[in-house]
Amino acid sequence: MPVNTQHSLPNTHFVSWFRSAAPYIHTFRNKTFVVAFGGEMVSEGQFIALAHDLNLLNSLGVRLVLVHGARPQIEEELTERQATIRYADGMRVTDDDALKCVKEAAGTVRVEIEALLSMGLANSPMAGADIRVASGNFVTAKPMGVRNGIDLMHTGEVRKIDTVAIRRRLDVGEIVLLSPLGYSPTGEIFNLTLEDVAAATAIALDADKLVFLMESAGVHDAQGELLRELTTPEAEAMLANDQNLSEDAGYFLPAAVRACRHGVARVHLVSRHIDGALLQELFTREGIGSMITELALETLREATIDDVGRILALIGPLEADGILVRRSRELLEMEIERFSVLEYDGAIIGCAALYPFPDEGTAELACFAIRPDYRNAGRGEILLEYMQDRALKNGFGRLFVLTTRTAHWFVERGFAEAGVESLPQAKQGLYNLQRRSKVFIKTL
Ligand SMILES: CC(C)(COP(=O)(O)OP(=O)(O)OC[C@H]1O[C@@H](n2cnc3c(N)ncnc32)[C@H](O)[C@@H]1OP(=O)(O)O)[C@@H](O)C(=O)NCCC(=O)NCCS
Repeated sequence: MPVNTQHSLPNTHFVSWFRSAAPYIHTFRNKTFVVAFGGEMVSEGQFIALAHDLNLLNSLGVRLVLVHGARPQIEEELTERQATIRYADGMRVTDDDALKCVKEAAGTVRVEIEALLSMGLANSPMAGADIRVASGNFVTAKPMGVRNGIDLMHTGEVRKIDTVAIRRRLDVGEIVLLSPLGYSPTGEIFNLTLEDVAAATAIALDADKLVFLMESAGVHDAQGELLRELTTPEAEAMLANDQNLSEDAGYFLPAAVRACRHGVARVHLVSRHIDGALLQELFTREGIGSMITELALETLREATIDDVGRILALIGPLEADGILVRRSRELLEMEIERFSVLEYDGAIIGCAALYPFPDEGTAELACFAIRPDYRNAGRGEILLEYMQDRALKNGFGRLFVLTTRTAHWFVERGFAEAGVESLPQAKQGLYNLQRRSKVFIKTL
């Protein structure tokens, strides 16, 4: 049936946006995200909009753990009771009176959040969605103790996260909500920081993402430019140089570094003041805030002739196993400009190649490999994103891959199985029937 372009024109923007978000939707299913936000989100009425976005993520199959703060509510309680939180060496001292305020405030915020998340109601975009929130004694804490001669009393730090209990709740589709409080095996309650609970939880759950919603738009450099991406060494250098970081970047950046160092693939710092910022950060290539990763994207680069030996060492064992098609040194030397490599500390730990089929506007992703001892840390995914970008920059709207054993990995990243007949003509002629590879295609 011919497409009625007149009819579809007004919706082109929506359709292309929705298509561009599709790979993320695919990728995020069953991924664990920890989303942390201050008590201001609730006291200033922004949580309703966030609740809709969280419900949406939940309905897309994202496993969500929320960590809320309660600073403004605690301060309000303290003023009402004419109590104060004393600071010693930049750290809070939570005495008995202050702890009462912390308990009241955290309890109130939690109940309000639970209520708002239950609001899968008529006038919400997620009408009819049935979402359950689980909170409980998931965080074990220990006292900060005496620092520089001052007893910090009920101020604590995370000792352990009950991942088994949290996962059980996530497995049945519930959203887990954590407060900045922890309990000790001796029955005491400790006042914790939002960023400590969030980072410790993301690390313990081996979360795919940790998101902090913050006052500013992200992390800015000394010239005031928003940094879209930074690596942990870059973030550490900024912290060490004490550049004019915003107050909340000063809290969240060390937590982001800690999380990345311990295996959380990505940490996002995003403004809480922009409606939909969370979705924009997660579902668009360019994002809206700052993203911190352990692995410098700069270590991904196009290959040069000097890399040939090290690429052969990487792919040799996979060729011997029949996972990759065999390539001679001569062929690799001839085709080296088609390759990209992932370099870590001087070693080549990953590679991939793009073979162009310009007539069909498509490219083949081939020789895609990560060294076995570096697998399962998100590097394959980063390399894939890099190759997708490289394909797009070269004008290819589609990628295909032939694989015998890695089908699921590609399907989980937005590729769909297709028949040999959907390959470019030239490739069909070369298709090796004996290998019986499967064909997977992704529209970028
Ligand atoms: C496929 C490959 C590149 C992934 O690299 P990686 O750095 O481990 O990738 P990531 O860390 O981003 O992803 C790891 C996830 O993929 C899963 N995975 C790994 N190999 C898989 C496979 N063959 N099928 C399905 N899932 C797979 C892991 O279990 C892990 O899942 P988890 O996060 O739920 O634990 C790597 O396994 C590899 O080099 N394989 C051999 C070469 C190959 O098959 N290439 C494709 C043909 S061109």
